[in-house]
Amino acid sequence: MEPRKILVTSALPYANGPLHLGHLLEHIQTDIWVRFQRLRGNTCYLICADDAHGTPIMLRAQQEGITPEQLIEDMWTRHKQDFDGFNISFDNYYTTHSDENRHYALYIYKAVRDAGHIDRRVIKQAYDAEAKMFLPDRFIKGECPKCGTADQYGDNCESCGATYSPVDLKNAVSALSGSTPVEKESEHYFFKLGDFEEFLLGFLKSGAVQKEIVNKQMEWFESDKGLADWDVSRDAPYWGFKIPGTEDKYFYVWLDAPIGYLASFRNFCDREGVDFDEFLKADSTTEMYHFIGKDIAYFHTLFWPALLQGAGFRLPTGVHCHGFLSVNGAKMSKSRGTFIQAESYLRHLNPEWLRYYFAGKLGDGVSDIDLNLEDFIQRVNSDLVGKVVNIASRCAGFVNKRFDNILSEQLPDADLYQEIAGAADSIADLYEKRLYSQAMREIMALADKANQYVDEQKPWVLIKDEARQAEVQGICTQGINMFRAIVTYLKPVVPQLAADAEAFLNAGELQWDSVQTPLLGSEITKFKALMTRVEQKMIDAMIEDNNAALPAPVEEKAAVAGPLADDPLSAEITFDDFAKVDLRVVKIVKAEHVEGAAKLLQLTLDLGGETRNVFAGIKSAYDPADLEGKMTVMVANLAPRKMRFGVSEGMVLAAGPGGADLFVLNPDDGALPGMRVK
Ligand code: MSP
Ligand code: ZN
Repeated sequence: MEPRKILVTSALPYANGPLHLGHLLEHIQTDIWVRFQRLRGNTCYLICADDAHGTPIMLRAQQEGITPEQLIEDMWTRHKQDFDGFNISFDNYYTTHSDENRHYALYIYKAVRDAGHIDRRVIKQAYDAEAKMFLPDRFIKGECPKCGTADQYGDNCESCGATYSPVDLKNAVSALSGSTPVEKESEHYFFKLGDFEEFLLGFLKSGAVQKEIVNKQMEWFESDKGLADWDVSRDAPYWGFKIPGTEDKYFYVWLDAPIGYLASFRNFCDREGVDFDEFLKADSTTEMYHFIGKDIAYFHTLFWPALLQGAGFRLPTGVHCHGFLSVNGAKMSKSRGTFIQAESYLRHLNPEWLRYYFAGKLGDGVSDIDLNLEDFIQRVNSDLVGKVVNIASRCAGFVNKRFDNILSEQLPDADLYQEIAGAADSIADLYEKRLYSQAMREIMALADKANQYVDEQKPWVLIKDEARQAEVQGICTQGINMFRAIVTYLKPVVPQLAADAEAFLNAGELQWDSVQTPLLGSEITKFKALMTRVEQKMIDAMIEDNNAALPAPVEEKAAVAGPLADDPLSAEITFDDFAKVDLRVVKIVKAEHVEGAAKLLQLTLDLGGETRNVFAGIKSAYDPADLEGKMTVMVANLAPRKMRFGVSEGMVLAAGPGGADLFVLNPDDGALPGMRVK
C-alpha cells in the first residue's frame, strides 16, 4: 500500500496560563496516534501553536506590566518546554500571532465576506465606562439571579448551577474596575452560519465526527431559528488582528485560532519545502485530523468546516474529540489542589509513566478520564516495569556475560514467537481507531505470555549445567525477541523506553514490520536498567510542590463536621438557607478504607453522570463492601474541602446515635442518581 499523507493537529493551548495534565491528555493522545502512523511508514505531520489572542491575554499582560507580545513569548517558551518534556513530537509549534496567521485570517475572512456570508448589525453589550471597554461575560460578576449567591461570574452560578445571561446578574459589577456596567451599542460583524446549514448537515453525517458529538450538534439545527449567526468581531481595545476596512474592530480570537492550524503548517511547509496546497486544496487526497476536547467541538464541527468550505479549502477527514481529565475523581481545579501543572509533574516523575497510564485509559469516545494516583503507581509498576522491562532484564545478563553479547541463530519456540508477531495487525487496527486501552491490554497479555515462557524455562537454573549452555542462549534469545516485539508495539506510547531498547538491541530503529523478522545471531550491547518504579513519595513531592504554587487550601478541620454533632440544637436557619441546600440521590459506586484515617471512608458517588469523591465519617458503622451499590442522599452543593487525604466534594447524609449505629440514608426504589431530593 502507498504510504498515507496525513496532517494532524491538537487544539492550540491558550497563552494565558501554564499547561496542566488535562492539556497533556490531549497531546499525548495525539502524539501516540502520530507516532504510530510514522512507525507504519506513513508521512504524518504534527502541527500545533499557542493561541495567543483575546481579552484575557491582553488584561493579564496589563496586570503584569508587560506587553502582550512579551507575555505570549514567555508563555510559548514555557509551553514548548513542557511539550518537549513529555516528548510530544511536533513538526511545528508556532503561534497564532504570526504573519502567516494574519494572512490566512484575512484571506478566509475576505473569501466569506465577498461571497456574502458576513452581516453587520448593531448590538447592545455590557460596557465598563471606567475601563473604557466592553466586558466579556467572565469579567462581569454579581449575585446569582436564582439563588442569590454573591460573587458569581459571567453566565452561570457555581453554587446552584443556574445558567443565565450576564445582564440578569443582580448588583452586577465589572471585575476590571468594580464599576457598574452600562449597556452600550456597537456594530458587530457576523458570520452567517445558516448559509452553510445543508453543507454542515452533510459534513456531520459524513463519518468525520463521532456519533455522540453529531447528536449534540444536531440540537443547534433543530431550533426554530436554525443555526445562529456567529459574532466574529470585537471592539477595541482588543488583542488580535484588525478587521480589514475598520479602524477599531478586531477578529474575535476564535476566528483566527483554528486558522492558526493552517498558518503553523504553512510556516512549516515554507521551512521544510513541503507542498502546502497538496494538503489543503479542496480536492486533496491527503488526510487531515483535528484532536480536540469536547468543550470545543462546537467550533470544530460547525464554524471551522464552514469557514474552510467558504474559502475553498479541504475539509477535515476527522475531528477526534476526547473527554475531560479529572484527578482522583475530582474535577481539575486550582482551589481543590487537583490542578496539576505539567511543569510540576516533570520535576518529579517520568513522562513515559503518564503516557502509558493515559494510553491505558483512552478510547475513541468522549467520556471523561480519571487520573487516580494510586492506580497510576500500580499500573506503571506492574505493567511497564514488572512485565515489559522484566522480560529483557531476566534474559540480557546471560547473553552479555556468558555468550559474548551474541544472540543464538534460531528461536527455540518459533510458534510462540509467531503468536506474538501475529498480533501486529490487530494491535495496529486498535491504534488506528484510537482504541489505545484495548491495544495496551492486548500488548500486556503478550508480555504475560513472554514472562510465563521465561518462568517455565528457568534459564537461571539451566545456566549452572555446563552441558546446557546453548539451550540457555536460545531461551534468552527467544525472550529478548519477544521483548523486542512488545517494545515495538509500545513504541508510540513510550518512545524513550523504545529508544533505549533500540540501543540495547543494537540493530537500528524499530519499525512496525521489524517484528516479523526476529533478531538472530547478532550482537547486542550491555543491558542497562530501562525504567525505574514509581514511588508514592515521588507523587507526594510532586503534589506538594504543585500546590505550593496554587491558592491555599481550605482548613481541614472544617471538613469533618460530625458525625452527628452532640449539640442538642444548632443555630436556627431561615427557609432560604435551607432552600440553598442541594440534596441529591446518589449511588455509592465505590467505598474504601482511608489509610491512616480513624473515622473516614472514601466514597465514590455517582450523581447520574457526574462522579464525586467524598470522605464520610461512617467507618464505625459500615464495612465499605456493604455500601457499594447502595443509594443514598448527599449535599451536592457543599464547597469542596481539601483534607489531609484528598478533596471531599460534598457530604452524605446519615442518621443515628453514632458509633456502630449510624445509618446512611437509603432512598426507596425508583430513586435514580442525580434526582433532586425535595
Ligand atoms: N485555545 C482554545 C483552542 C483553540 S483550537 C483552534 C482552547 N484552549 S485551552 O487551553 O483552553 O484548551 C486546549 C485544549 O485542552 C482543548 O482541546 C481542551 O478541551 C483541552 N483541555 C483543557 N482542559 C482539559 C482537561 N481537564 N481534560 C482534557 N482536556 C482538556 O480551548
Ligand atoms: Zn445560583
